[in-house]
Amino acid sequence: MSINIKILSAVGLLFGISACMSTSPQLGPDASAWSDYLSWYKVTPEAVTGDPTGTLGSVHDGFNAYRQIYVNSTGEAVNRGTQGYPYPEGTILLKESFNNAAALESRRNPDLTIMIKLAAGQSPETGGWEYVMGADGGRRGTGSSDLGAFCRDCHLFAAATDYNFINSRFFQNNR
Ligand code: HEC
Repeated sequence: MSINIKILSAVGLLFGISACMSTSPQLGPDASAWSDYLSWYKVTPEAVTGDPTGTLGSVHDGFNAYRQIYVNSTGEAVNRGTQGYPYPEGTILLKESFNNAAALESRRNPDLTIMIKLAAGQSPETGGWEYVMGADGGRRGTGSSDLGAFCRDCHLFAAATDYNFINSRFFQNNR
């Protein structure tokens, strides 16, 4: 299964599918909701590289990228394991991907991918999450949009933890 996903995402990148796939109307908050994300709880005290979950394939800038994950205060207790899943409405999980160690060091041009937990019933197809690409929040994926399905199809492997691959406990156990 994960091999199929890897092939699909590799083919997707090859044909630039991420640039032309259909998006959906914005449901969650606009970009000001994550403008101060550097002050949020950092799920990954050290950047993650390689493929710790075994599901990454070529997305999120691939194995060689350095990734850092943040969660806003709404989702912090669930992420840190002091409150049970699912994440409450308004949770934002945000990931920075840097191309290499030097880019991480100088914080050069991180790609941002973001997940926003919506109100119950707003996008059951994507597990209640709005998937967002880009710091400006311009590209959103919910419902049956291509972008929503693309992100969901892989994050579904983490369905037991509400579509969240790396939470605090995972990071501590796999560092
Ligand atoms: C082929 C699988 C795959 C696809 C497709 C994918 N992701 Fe991820 N994503 C991952 C993995 C694996 C992680 C765990 C962190 C890591 O290894 O970088 C992750 C982590 C994240 C995180 C941090 C929270 C977490 O679950 O750990 C966010 C936010 C995120 N992805 C958003 C997105 C968005 C938005 C899309 C669609 C544009 C997307 N992802 C598509 C595999 C995928």
